[in-house]
Amino acid sequence: MVLGMWFACATLVTILLLLILRRRNSCITNLPSGSLGLPIAGETLHMLMDMEGFYEQRLSRYGDIFKTHIYGCATVVSMNAELNKFILMNEGKMFISNFPESLHKIFGEWNMSKLSGVQHKRRRGIVLGLSRMTAANEKSLLRGVEGITKQYLRSWHGRILHVQDETEKITFAIICNLLISMVSAEEVNKLKKDFSELNDGILSFGYNIPGTAFWKAMKARKRIIHKLHWILQRRRSATASPASLDVLDTLLDAVKTGEIDKAYTTEEILDFLMGILFAAYETTATTMTMAVKFLTSNARALREIRNEHARIKKAKQPGAMLTWKDYEMMTFTQNVIDETLRLSSPTPILHRRAIQNVTYKGITIPKGWKILVHNAVVHKNSSMYPDPSKFNPWRWQNHNGNECYFAPFGYGIRHCPGDDLAKLKIAVFLHHLVTHYSWEPKEGKKQRYFPNVTKQTGIYVLAKEMDSQHL
Ligand code: HEM
Repeated sequence: MVLGMWFACATLVTILLLLILRRRNSCITNLPSGSLGLPIAGETLHMLMDMEGFYEQRLSRYGDIFKTHIYGCATVVSMNAELNKFILMNEGKMFISNFPESLHKIFGEWNMSKLSGVQHKRRRGIVLGLSRMTAANEKSLLRGVEGITKQYLRSWHGRILHVQDETEKITFAIICNLLISMVSAEEVNKLKKDFSELNDGILSFGYNIPGTAFWKAMKARKRIIHKLHWILQRRRSATASPASLDVLDTLLDAVKTGEIDKAYTTEEILDFLMGILFAAYETTATTMTMAVKFLTSNARALREIRNEHARIKKAKQPGAMLTWKDYEMMTFTQNVIDETLRLSSPTPILHRRAIQNVTYKGITIPKGWKILVHNAVVHKNSSMYPDPSKFNPWRWQNHNGNECYFAPFGYGIRHCPGDDLAKLKIAVFLHHLVTHYSWEPKEGKKQRYFPNVTKQTGIYVLAKEMDSQHL
């Protein structure tokens, strides 16, 4: 009874607040077109039932900038190249990063998307140090990436593989090695299982009700933090210096020397590590998977990428590791990666919030509104990319980066600091895949689409080792 009354009051207050908000915004005459849908529910159900159709219908009805009301927020969706760039480049001035609350609960108060100013800048610096290849880290970075890729690919022969699962194993093992020197396959797999549970909770409603995806994700968070905390304690109490430094050592050293804030708390370090582990593996694995898919259905592209890698391999001693020079020769491979990211971005939509009323080319985005920066639609705009749905890696050959909007790694101060590492991992994976294996597509179990975009990558292949004459 009491609970019922409480619920009724809470609903009433919410409706009143929403009506006040709508009234206040009705004073703004130049809002984008679109509909806010029903009170409270807005258009969330429409979107959940058919995510792609939702955006497509509104794009054709209202144009590439429209308003809606989803996940409990008045929202502007931008599929407009210029506005997208304007929003991303004005991070911290007019707009701030604003991922769903469920994401912040799962990744903790100190996750990078929630931080700004100096705190954000310092953490970015650490990830950039991990990702960028320099003379000092060339060998260790390439060795780490290549050694693990080869180790996991060895088991591919003769199996029907769910490519996303297999590539996730590779990318997760690489980031565990680089970040916390975790090498035991058993430990890595256990940690990875917990990260998979996190995934399903990210776009959930964020109510911690037993049995829900969000509840499971929060349980997984606890286990992950517990494991990372154990690793951190061991590092802090270690007396001998490690033979080579991973990211956690670098971070602890920087705290010790005062290079970064000495007041870095345990909680901050753990949220930071957890965020990087997550950001680094699934995005990259999805791109690897989609590259396999596109190459499978494009014989000419597969032939060309195979030739490129066969040339690199033949110029080396048998079994010799890849070098930076080899990597620089993978030019067609870079085109394949760009084209894969264009057609199938693992981060199709970025989340922002307006921190002031912003008027852009006659349209006002009111302060407090959420903004969805929809990059995937812009990447398929036919005025920038002729025949946009075609996988055409050659379009990048004479491409000047400035002539088209291309933002698979974002723009501005939140531009992905792991972009170089991601591209390196994908190129090394493709090198060993196309020089060792042929594969054919196979039917597999249907994958769920919601709540995670990667679940659509239900791609299965049967891989067979090639003899070197095929190269
Ligand atoms: C193909 C692979 C990847 C894609 C497509 C990708 C995409 C993105 C995008 C679009 C953003 C910007 C988010 C925003 O503006 O709100 C971002 C941020 C980020 N990415 Fe990546 N990423 C990839 C791989 C990686 C890797 C390998 C790492 C780690 C080494 C990484 C670490 C991060 C971090 C820490 C951020 C937050 C940056 C900030 O808030 O300043 N990403 N990523």
